[in-house]
Amino acid sequence: MRNEVDGLVSISLDDILPNVTLPGDIFLKLGENNFVLIGREGTKERLKELHFFDKVKISNEVYIKKMDLRKFSALRVLASNEIMKNDKISTEAKATVLSKTLNSVFNTVSHLGFSHEALGHSKFVANSVIRLIEETPKLNTLMNILNGVSEELVKHSMATSMISVMISQSKGWNNPSILEKMALGGILHDIGLKEYPKEFLKKPRIEYTSEDLEYYQKHPFRGLEILRTVENVPQEVLAIVYEHHENAIGQGYPRAYRDVRLHPFSKVVALADTFCEVSFVDVHNPEARDPDEAITYIENVLGQPFNKECFNALKNVLMFGIRKASVKIVS
Ligand SMILES: [Fe+2]
Ligand SMILES: [Fe+2]
Repeated sequence: MRNEVDGLVSISLDDILPNVTLPGDIFLKLGENNFVLIGREGTKERLKELHFFDKVKISNEVYIKKMDLRKFSALRVLASNEIMKNDKISTEAKATVLSKTLNSVFNTVSHLGFSHEALGHSKFVANSVIRLIEETPKLNTLMNILNGVSEELVKHSMATSMISVMISQSKGWNNPSILEKMALGGILHDIGLKEYPKEFLKKPRIEYTSEDLEYYQKHPFRGLEILRTVENVPQEVLAIVYEHHENAIGQGYPRAYRDVRLHPFSKVVALADTFCEVSFVDVHNPEARDPDEAITYIENVLGQPFNKECFNALKNVLMFGIRKASVKIVS
């Protein structure tokens, strides 16, 4: 969670879009409880012209009123929407912009809770992920693009969303409504972790005590509770969030249900989640793996505990790309 001082919260300098009319006041922290107004709501963003700007650049953060987080986030979604529609902008640049937008959405959820608006913004990101895959249906390329995203949960959620959509397409589930739910489930599957202290999330899982493990394993249920506070979250997305750590052999959590009792969409996202976890380096996974190595790891080290059809669909994406995989299924 970001710093919070007397109703002010810190956001990254990247979260302030250049040359826009500011949707809220911006402050710079000069010292303990000492803030100076450097941008007034309703005026044009002119941070670079301030003599404070060097100080802003060093800390790479500014402060806004907590209640304004929603307005800054909404502005970012609007701007991203324009960027996603622009054919002249590269997929890499779009993915970077989208990751910053999702970071802003998650930050707002951390401070103000999940809301109808946050659901709408998450849907925007989910549909943008589908669009990115349409532009670049190569798994390797997309994983490489996401590798550069610095916020771990944003990177992981975007990648899980992307892989879930690819598995779904490879299975022949191409209905736009299915793809949106799959992508949204991927974006939101770990939303329960947004409440966890940063220090806890930085602790390698290998060092967890039994209490730590028990606490960590509550995040699917917390995610479900958070999303249930808002109307119109699709039932399929709730199932994905609650069941994304289950597996086909009944050795997952929270319920250790076997394949037959799991929602079909959960089986897809559970595999995508693990595939993304073992692909990127983070505090729990010291070694990056390319997609082939990640598949081999799931098969040989983890014993491939996931739904077989989903696993074959993922392998087919790797071998043939999405379009061919969806017509040529090899088990
Ligand atoms: Fe999770
Ligand atoms: Fe996850």
